[in-house]
Amino acid sequence: MADDITSRADAAAIKAAGLGYQSGFGNHVSTEAVAGALPAGRNSPQRTPYGLYAEQLSGSAFTAPRSENRRSWLYRLRPTASHRPYRPYAGGALVRSGPFDELPPSPNRLRWDPLPIPEAPTDFVDGLVTYAGNGDPAVSAGTAIHLYAANRTMRDRVFYDADGELLILPQEGALLLTTELGRMSVAPGEIAVIPRGVRFHVALQAPTARGYVCENYGALFRLPELGPIGSNGLANARDFLTPQAWFEDRDAPTEVVQKFQGRLWTTTLDHSPFDVVAWHGSLAPYKYDQARFNTINTVSFDHPDPSIFTVLTSPSELPGTANCDFVIFPPRWMVAEDTFRPPWFHRNVMSEFMGLVHGAYDAKAGGFAPGGASLHNCMSGHGPDRESYERAVTAELKPHKIDNTLAFMFESRWVIRPTRFATDTPLAQLDYDDCWDGFTKAQVPGADAS
Ligand SMILES: [Fe+2]
Repeated sequence: MADDITSRADAAAIKAAGLGYQSGFGNHVSTEAVAGALPAGRNSPQRTPYGLYAEQLSGSAFTAPRSENRRSWLYRLRPTASHRPYRPYAGGALVRSGPFDELPPSPNRLRWDPLPIPEAPTDFVDGLVTYAGNGDPAVSAGTAIHLYAANRTMRDRVFYDADGELLILPQEGALLLTTELGRMSVAPGEIAVIPRGVRFHVALQAPTARGYVCENYGALFRLPELGPIGSNGLANARDFLTPQAWFEDRDAPTEVVQKFQGRLWTTTLDHSPFDVVAWHGSLAPYKYDQARFNTINTVSFDHPDPSIFTVLTSPSELPGTANCDFVIFPPRWMVAEDTFRPPWFHRNVMSEFMGLVHGAYDAKAGGFAPGGASLHNCMSGHGPDRESYERAVTAELKPHKIDNTLAFMFESRWVIRPTRFATDTPLAQLDYDDCWDGFTKAQVPGADAS
């Protein structure tokens, strides 16, 4: 059974917002918005309380091993099955999906300025812009990486993604996410994950909103193994919050936009789909405050591999080689002796897409702005820019806190292929390579300079 919310401060804030959560990751949760709405002892009794419709939502195959199996039972005012046919949706012009074959993938390192807030009225769905991705939702492997920029709340419509779960990372402007399984407030610094198929509505809590979305076609995100770290550390299960049941009995036209096999489709219901009065199970939206991350780092020498900062991982069938790792670079103490402390130069068989929520990233002196992004694909050399390098090799190595910053990375075993938008947009920094110009040659005694 999930623990109750853990701190008094949290409980007061949550009560003030009219929101309720249970803590834990992947727990079996039971929650009802009306007393007695959950059937006792049976998932689909002949007669449910209040005549609610029982519906199973499966996030894994029925026969997935118990440790992988995620499903929930929903008890709702009307069956989801009652709807008219979906038609192609005219919006979402910049949403793309795997296979990402608009352009041949370039080995060049890419970096983008922040996505501007649109001038025309734009909600979360119409504000989605796909930058890159890999794999294919048709075979349940890979990811798509989108950014969003919006200036209005979704009006009389909801969205769901049949192609994958959505990891939403606000960068500017908090969001109120109303989902079939409850409501969550998600601010910059937090993340939310919406399971595949779960319908949700995005309300802006500020005049404008911007952020990043990782659409995961592959295995569900879960906490990484901890190995020799032990049973605590990194993201702790108790800090993940799942909403409590919440519903509205609202008979008004509501558009449902869905993403299915890369394309957007639409239909209109005569009622709100947020009519789940009670639910129980292990498949549910959740949120996490990245400030709760228990950062592990060296206390002797050398910069550990960035995998030490993994919050969530979507594994592939190859052990330790993720479909997608979600990795963060939060505030932390740097104490390593005799060490080049920033991220080192490297070439990686994995491919790396980075973003910045706020502050500055310790491998770049400039150019990587909050709301911006960068892409370093398989075997493309990267690392500190020259200014960061010079500073690091001459710094006095006292204990130092990297503070007021939050960068992140989506890392994948498959090459992350940029879309045509990402390649052609004026946001792309054509001079990105220049940040690695001007390194002086190392002087080796006896080397032939001819
Ligand atoms: Fe890297």
